[in-house]
Formats: sequence, C-alpha cells, structure tokens
Amino acid sequence: MSAKIEIAFSKSAKPAGGLAILLKSVESAAAPGAAEVDPSGVIEKAGKLVKFTGKSLSTVDILAPEGSPVDRLLVLGLGKSADITAHDWLKAGGAARGAFKSAEKVTIFVDDPEASPSARNIADFALGMLLRNYKFDRYKSKKASDDDKADVKQIKVTIVTAAATAAKKAFSEAEGIADGVMLARDLVNEPANILGPVEFADKARELVKLGVEVEILTEKEMKKLGMGALLGVSQGSVRPPRLAVMQWKGGKAKDRPVAFIGKGVVFDTGGISIKPAAGMEDMKGDMGGAAAVTGLMHALAARQAKANVVGIIGLVENMPDGNAQRPGDIVTSMSGQTIEVINTDAEGRLVLCDALWYCNERFKPRFMINLATLTGAILVALGNLHAGLFSNDDELAEQLLASGIATNERLWRMPLGKDYDKMIDSKFADMKNTGGRHAGSITAAQFLKRFVGDTPWAHLDIAGTAMSSPSDEINQSWGSGYGVRLLDELVRTHYES
Ligand code: BES
Ligand code: MN
Ligand code: ZN
Repeated sequence: MSAKIEIAFSKSAKPAGGLAILLKSVESAAAPGAAEVDPSGVIEKAGKLVKFTGKSLSTVDILAPEGSPVDRLLVLGLGKSADITAHDWLKAGGAARGAFKSAEKVTIFVDDPEASPSARNIADFALGMLLRNYKFDRYKSKKASDDDKADVKQIKVTIVTAAATAAKKAFSEAEGIADGVMLARDLVNEPANILGPVEFADKARELVKLGVEVEILTEKEMKKLGMGALLGVSQGSVRPPRLAVMQWKGGKAKDRPVAFIGKGVVFDTGGISIKPAAGMEDMKGDMGGAAAVTGLMHALAARQAKANVVGIIGLVENMPDGNAQRPGDIVTSMSGQTIEVINTDAEGRLVLCDALWYCNERFKPRFMINLATLTGAILVALGNLHAGLFSNDDELAEQLLASGIATNERLWRMPLGKDYDKMIDSKFADMKNTGGRHAGSITAAQFLKRFVGDTPWAHLDIAGTAMSSPSDEINQSWGSGYGVRLLDELVRTHYES
C-alpha cells in the first residue's frame, strides 16, 4: 500500500531531524529556509561544486549537513520563475515526494522569493506529492524490491509558507481531487476477477458517503428500457451487467446538469471476434472511462463543487460463451436504431450508445462528455501522450482543449464528417458497429454521434492515456487516472455558479 502521508501547513518551522527540502528558482539568490536549516552554508558550497542553478527538477542532495538541525538537505530546482506553470508546481511536488526515500519527517520551504507561489500553487505542489505517493501493491505478499525496503508506513510533511492559512484551504480541495484520481487508478489496476460489473457498481454506490445520489440499474431494468445494444455485449458473460447513475447536486435546483458517461467494460476478450492472447491482460483496464467518471464524481463531491453533475457508467463484461452474440447479429438500441454487429470486439460503442441515449432522454443535460478506451487506432494516431477529442460543438471542444493544457492531461482534436459517417451504413440495419480498418477511431466516434441528437457532446478516446502511460513525476502507476483532473478543471472554470 501507499505510505500514509500527512501534510500540514505552517508559517514557521523549527525542524529537528528528518529531511528538509528547499525550493529554489533560477533567479533567486538563496533558497528560502537556508537560514533555518543550513547555518554553515553547505548548500551554497555544494551547489557551486555541482553547478546547480535551480533548473526545473534538478537537485542538490546533502547528507548529515554540518551544524544543521536536520539529517538531510535537498534543494529542488523550480526553473525560471517567469516560466513556472501550474503543472510545474504539480511536478515539483511529485519530484519532492520521489526524493523522500526513507524519511518519515519532512519539512518543505516553498516560498522562493522570485517564484512567490500563490496558495493554489502550493496546493498543486502538495497535490503532486499525493499523486506520486500512490502505489498499487495490494496483491504483493512480499515487499521485496529495494525500493520497498526503503518504504516507510507514515510520513509527516510540514510545508512552511507565509500563506499557510490560504494554502491549507486550497489544499483541502486538492485532497478531494487526489482521492478522485487515486480511486480511478485503483479501479483500473484492479484485476477483472475481483472487479466485475456488480463489484464496480458497489464502488460507485460508496459515493453516497460524500452526498452523491446513486442508482444502480439491473439487467431487468435495462431490458425494460430497451437497451439492446448494451445487453447484447453482456450476454456472453455469466456476470450480469449494471448501469450506475450518479448525481451530484451542488448547483442551483433549476440548473440543468452537465453529464459524463463512461465505458465500463470490466474485461474485453473481444467476444466471439476474440482478441489475440498477447497483451490481452491489459483489457482489465477497458473500464478506464467508467473509472474516470467515478473518480471525477468523487472529486467534485469531495470538494463540494457548485454544479449539478450526472455521471453514468455502463458496466459489462465482453466474453465469448455459448450465449454470446455473433458477428452478423442485429440488435435494437434504446433509441430504436438498429445495429448490425460486424465485430463483437467493437463493443464499447454498443455500451455507450445506450448509456448516452438514456442520459440525454432523462436529464436533458447542458452537455454530454463520454470517456472510453474505445479504439486501438487512437494509439496508432496519438500514442499515449494525447487522448483523442471528437466533438459536435466547437465551444465545448475549445474549453476541453484549454483544460487539457492547464492540467497537462492533453487532448488532440480529431475530425468528424458526413463522409466518415457513411462508412458505418449497413446493408441490413440502420448502421454497423465497425467501419473497416481505415479511420477506426473516427468511425467509432461517428457511431456515438448518432445517439446524442443536438446536445453538445464530446467523446474522449482514452485508450492510449488511461493505462500503461510512461511513468512521470506524478504517476508511477499502470492505471493513470487520466481524465479526473482534466474534467474537474473544466467544471471548475466554466460550469460552477
Ligand atoms: N477496448 C478495445 C480498444 C483498446 C485497444 C483499448 C487497446 C485499449 C488498448 C476496443 O473494445 C476494441 O477492441 N476496439 C477494436 C475495434 C475494432 C474491432 C473496430 C480495435 O481497436 O481494434
Ligand atoms: Mn473490444
Ligand atoms: Zn473494449
């Protein structure tokens, strides 16, 4: 498990023992806190020796510094003060946590005079620490790696800043966001034998504790609603499907909600159009969209967002048994539109089309944003550095792109159009569920677009970003939790009253 990390804020500190971290920008003459923890000027001497300038994420590390009240001193570079972004503060926090090693007591001086951090900057720094602290090792009975030997169970961090009171307040919101991201990571990392549709729905139900209203629709209820597309995917599994509807009512009663919809395929074998064995284990993460929506609802509720928000997740397992759907089968979606199933491995869109239609009918939302690990083709196009963004609404797309830059959960807009739409016309039904090898991510998006009417809508294809991203300062986990910070930022900047 992750070490427990407790973060306090203080206007001044008299550290005794443990680790002291001093943040320093390129321009500032001396790191803040040097007077308190480095009476003999070791930092300056050592810094000169290694030509330390305060470049972003560079460090000077000093053990048992002479005359110091602490056991170890670390100076962490922030970069050029004029260039430091919100994301740099997050990364600095992550890098700081990464440098703790076996320290159980850490004092951090953040008030670089040139960078002059705001309360929000400091909260972002602390958020970076929490995100880096995450570890999914619940199924390791032996903690054998060198890294784990250095692990401590409990870490007390004191952040020293003149803005302690405001920073503490900003941090209480950041904590809710961190918990949301970590919930999403946990859900993605959890194997499918443990986390089936029912178990996932139970996790969603736990949000009741935070004041979220949660309804769980069963197979019988979905049949009654006519969700033939979603149910067709699920029929080859012995584990029944669920649809979880989460509502956070933090806005005014009359305000129409915003809505987020997630693909929750707890495991995707491909069904009868079965996937090759190599790498199939990764398909335990095919519920990354649903995980992001659940994590987002957690974050918004925990920080008491002033907005009405609906989260809907379609939870199924795509398996090939004797009752599984076949290529060529024709199913009727809740919308009444019929779908010829060409490939049972294009199942995500079948789940989402009923969830989107249901959401639109019931809630008449201001917008719908769906998240889905939808296509391998988006990995071919964008790798794991950008998620694909498809939208029928330029304003919503612009807002999303800006939130992506602010949080560094990056998006790249992809095209939609009539000629792509034609590619999913079917000989036998209203449409088919695949459009062939070319433009695979776009035809998948065109499919979804047929179920959103005139409602402003965006589809985020997160197949490349939800899992298996390269480790970085704030994430070392397979499941990244991608989307939670992005959409929290979107709601915060545009949709709170
Ligand atoms: N869950 C997969 C997409 C995926 C691939 C997610 C790799 C994460 C990593 C999706 O259900 C799928 O199988 N898509 C097919 C669609 C095809 C059959 C039209 C694909 O991308 O190959
Ligand atoms: Mn599939
Ligand atoms: Zn899938």
